[in-house]
Amino acid sequence: MSEENFKVTPWEIEGKVDYQKLIKQFGTTAIDKQLLEKLKNKTKSKKLSAFFRRGFIYSHRDLEKIIDNIDKNNFFIYTGRGPSGKMHIGHLIPFMISKWFQDEFDCNVYIAMADDEKFVFKDKLTFEEMEKTAKDNFLDISAIGLNPDKTFFFSDIEYISKLYPVALKFSKKINFSTAKAVFGFNNESNLGQFFYPAVQIVPTTFENKNCLIPAGIDQDPYWRIQRDVAEKLGYKKVVAVHNKLLPPLQGLEGKMSSSVGDTAIFLDDDSKTIEKKINKYAFSGGQPTLEEQRKKGGNTEICVVYSWLEILFEDSDEKLEQRKKDCKSGKILCGECKKYLSEKISKTLKQHQENKIKNSPLIEKYKHSGILAQKMWK
Ligand code: TYM
Repeated sequence: MSEENFKVTPWEIEGKVDYQKLIKQFGTTAIDKQLLEKLKNKTKSKKLSAFFRRGFIYSHRDLEKIIDNIDKNNFFIYTGRGPSGKMHIGHLIPFMISKWFQDEFDCNVYIAMADDEKFVFKDKLTFEEMEKTAKDNFLDISAIGLNPDKTFFFSDIEYISKLYPVALKFSKKINFSTAKAVFGFNNESNLGQFFYPAVQIVPTTFENKNCLIPAGIDQDPYWRIQRDVAEKLGYKKVVAVHNKLLPPLQGLEGKMSSSVGDTAIFLDDDSKTIEKKINKYAFSGGQPTLEEQRKKGGNTEICVVYSWLEILFEDSDEKLEQRKKDCKSGKILCGECKKYLSEKISKTLKQHQENKIKNSPLIEKYKHSGILAQKMWK
């Protein structure tokens, strides 16, 4: 698929995504340096997360609305996960961004487990499998370490009686042709799929403040609909920041997919599996021979190994810059970068797996007994 020929919906990504074109297609706004500077000045740490610094979070809707009044604690965060299977490292990114916002601005965070969504969209997923997966996904999200008194985890199915009245209000304002145009529904789509978007929108109204959504750009169709309807129902238009999608191991096209296991690193992968996958599958854009590599250097622009370091696994801007120089000059070889990346991922995931076990007792707090959770069930 060529660059002109890509497709992004909440359920499907095909081809090499042209992120700038997507901004036009979806009608969002690019995040520019000025906006980043404003945000940075309002943070406690006076430092932006690398996702912002390196342009991985690259587009937004109305972010300036929040930044301008941020001292007044004028927003809350809402994001979510659809439990289609085990989580890969890309899925964790919006939750890491949520944690960054909570650390910097002390805001409440709401996390939806869209168990209803995945059940109606995944043909082969049984109800029992979905329930099991949802439990495990919550544990993975708990490993991020969000504040248990300022964070509410809910499963749509469990919390539906609270969501349903507002879902009904939104559903009444979204007609068949809009749903078809925005989500690509067709004659094969089932009834559950048609109603689900109304449910995903509801948490944007949980507080009478601005709702900020950190999520992949693929989720934007939901926010477009929310913004069309919210004010008519007396709610605020949602604010969003969009991250790009972590590419699959095989090349910078598309996104990592749980259903194509070898394209992804899963959160429960061990060091051996990680090393094997990186060595076997990671596309590095190096020259065909060692001699040529030394002479001509590599190409970081097409290299997945470099891209993953840039997005997730190299904190230090200086080290990243040096690696780029060393690659381009032929000083380092692809094998060395792959080894470095494997070690970085292994270390990060080992820590994640330990946190997942350590934080498992917190699930009850996130879901029911934490201060925010209690308030939400009242
Ligand atoms: P889901 O489970 O498909 O994805 C969860 C979140 O991860 C993002 N994402 C990625 N980010 C970076 N790189 C990737 N390769 C990658 N793949 C997925 C997604 O954009 C998403 O933010 N419908 C939602 C669940 C949901 C939700 C929400 C998401 C319910 N309420 C509110 C965001 C905000 C879903 O199925 O996400």
